[in-house]
Amino acid sequence: MNKTEMLYEGKAKKVWATEDENLCIVSYKDDATAFNGLKKGTIVGKGSINNRVSNYFMKIIEDKGIPTHVVEELSDRETLVKRVEIVPLEVIVRNIAAGSLAKRLGLEEGTVMSHPVLEFCYKNDALNDPMVNTSHIIAMGFATREELDLISKYSFQINEILKGILEMDNITLVDFKIEFGRMKDGTIILADEISPDTCRFWDSRTSEKLDKDRFRRDLGGVEDAYQEILKRVMGNK
Ligand code: TMP
Ligand code: ASP
Repeated sequence: MNKTEMLYEGKAKKVWATEDENLCIVSYKDDATAFNGLKKGTIVGKGSINNRVSNYFMKIIEDKGIPTHVVEELSDRETLVKRVEIVPLEVIVRNIAAGSLAKRLGLEEGTVMSHPVLEFCYKNDALNDPMVNTSHIIAMGFATREELDLISKYSFQINEILKGILEMDNITLVDFKIEFGRMKDGTIILADEISPDTCRFWDSRTSEKLDKDRFRRDLGGVEDAYQEILKRVMGNK
């Protein structure tokens, strides 16, 4: 499958059209940003790690019955995916308070939530991705109630699937952000990526951060953390 025109360049990926109108090629970059693009940098090797780790997770999720956009990994950095219209929501699931939740509710980072927490943010850089609730989403037409019910169900299921895989590698899934897409026939599928850019991963024994917070918070050892996730999750797969 050959790339034709570039459809979109985001902060971490480029998306290309292909000769097949129903398929795209995603190309993962080493560029890293935080705080809505205010902080910029490069994480050497990130594109390849995120591509491979995300595809690995999505394959398992697909095997458990949740449809995803992944068709085929084409190379270290590139994956063939189903073409979708992205539902303009960042769907966040949290098991442990960290980041913006800890700040918003005055919780100490590391507080275990008694039940997984689901949040939605409207994907809009100009507005800084504001948090929205179900009635905003329906009133604004971002998704229908039926779509949102399915997205919520899938998101909690994905949390359980990922927690299970990661536990075996001594990684605690603190929280993560996912995005969904709508195919031409209206089917909702998991899109975007699941990687150290979009999840908080803590070492289960030492609580060491093994994700993009090392970049966001200038903790050092950023590349090593991404490598560690690749090694633990994929081993020699
Ligand atoms: P937050 O605590 O900053 O709201 O982040 C929650 C989760 O979402 C965390 O795993 C990091 C991820 N995330 C993204 O993937 N993209 C973003 O733009 C932000 C702000 C967070
Ligand atoms: N999406 C954020 C940014 O725009 C990055 C992040 O905090 O993950 O820069």
